Amino acid sequence: MIKCDILIIGSGIAAMQLARNLSADLHVIIITKGKWQNSNSFMAQGGVAAAVSSDDSWELHFKDTIEAGENFHNDSEVMKLVQIAPEMIKNLQNTGVRFDCYKNGNLSLGKEGAHSRNRILHCGGDATGKHIMEQFHLNLPQNVELIEGQFVYELLLDQNKNRCIGVKTRDRKGEKHIYRAGGTVLAAGGIGGLYPFTSNDHTIAGDGLALAYKAGVKITDAEFIQFHPTLLYVNGCTHGLISEAVRGEGAILVNDQGEPIMQGVHPLKDLAPRHIVAEQIFKERLAGRDVFLDISMIADFPDKFPTITDSCLKNGIDIEAGKIPVAPGSHFFMGGIKIDPHGRSSLEGLYSIGESACSGVHGANRLASNSLLEGLVYGKRLAEYLNHNRKECESAHKLSPISYQDIVIPVLPEKAVIQQKMMENAGIIREGRKLKTFIQWIESYGVLEIIKSDLDALPIQQIETIFMLISAHIIAVSSLSREESRGGHIRADFPNSRKEWESRHIINSIHGMEI
Ligand code: SIN
Repeated sequence: MIKCDILIIGSGIAAMQLARNLSADLHVIIITKGKWQNSNSFMAQGGVAAAVSSDDSWELHFKDTIEAGENFHNDSEVMKLVQIAPEMIKNLQNTGVRFDCYKNGNLSLGKEGAHSRNRILHCGGDATGKHIMEQFHLNLPQNVELIEGQFVYELLLDQNKNRCIGVKTRDRKGEKHIYRAGGTVLAAGGIGGLYPFTSNDHTIAGDGLALAYKAGVKITDAEFIQFHPTLLYVNGCTHGLISEAVRGEGAILVNDQGEPIMQGVHPLKDLAPRHIVAEQIFKERLAGRDVFLDISMIADFPDKFPTITDSCLKNGIDIEAGKIPVAPGSHFFMGGIKIDPHGRSSLEGLYSIGESACSGVHGANRLASNSLLEGLVYGKRLAEYLNHNRKECESAHKLSPISYQDIVIPVLPEKAVIQQKMMENAGIIREGRKLKTFIQWIESYGVLEIIKSDLDALPIQQIETIFMLISAHIIAVSSLSREESRGGHIRADFPNSRKEWESRHIINSIHGMEI
């Protein structure tokens, strides 16, 4: 058994920001499933949104965030987020992050969907996440131990199931490990891999969500999933992101007839909020028309977007031809583990930050480039909280863990089948009837019983499939309950937003649903 003060699950920007801001006398362990680079943060292209230019203000950044997320936010959290954004940028610069500048030395600020100003700070053109994460990794303090290649398959709870006291993991050889911690933090990313098309790292498919839910933790807003409009689409598969910054530079979406598809759909056209653009592309594709990004008007494309150019080349797409084939794919989870402003979940000893968590800053649809910002802000804030509230973590080491009943190994569906069914039933456009059938299908695999069982005896592959089913169930049940369309939740049978749902959040846990 390994003991530490603070255990962090995940290695994205929120996890690293937390680790680097925790006091040097705390023993901190970061556990990640793959390599430390396997995170959505590392792959982030667009950048970090912050009102740093003279024609911008936090008020405008606030307004854009609220409009993109359809007024479903925790407003005071949004206000704190956008107000502190310029300070976060300065902190990054002090850590050695060099944001792209023009020749005159001024910051080069990009534009993305639903932003009323150019306010996206980026590095290496379209490799912002990689640059920031490499700096963070390089500067990880001595008191932080980074453990790669371990899959967390259970949160350890005390005998009364009142407190999280650590985790159980498996390494690559399948060997089991137990970690005991004063505080355990889930920063394990979102749920992208629940769908066949996703921009997310291949390791991310709802583990954090399922772990928390299984431990009785409250989950909120799980129906809100952002589909990014433009993933590179070749040979029936998607191959990573084509940043919205490309449309920010003037690219437009056209169908195979050459018609601009965002004309007349929204006043912001190709830079409308993501769910609107994704829905439009989805409809074009349903009607049998392919969709392309016309990039012919962008000068020096390879210099501005080296990562995208490289990924197009690798997939046989000639940038010179001026057209990139695209399709939407799951990108960001607005819902997650319900947290308070410090990052505390409903279970004592368990905290959450980043995409795993839901603090209400993204509402029903996240504004572009607000996610790295969120990771920075909440990572730092939780570190400050834990540094000053050490007593809260002290009792965990004295408690002994509860054990569950062993499970009979169930017959489970293939992961690809779950992904396909998620897309068809809980994808870009949902419908009550289909969601009900889908929920019954998930439950036919005994998910509601599995949740109460010990997964110790199962191989990793099977546990991952179970986690996918649990996460799919949470999302489907929440999607069925919300009888309206708002942001990243579109219901064909309730196509408009409805006043009575404006301020109602769906909160799920194994103890039941609250609305
Ligand atoms: C993008 O570059 O289009 C993605 C940025 C984001 O999701 O914030």
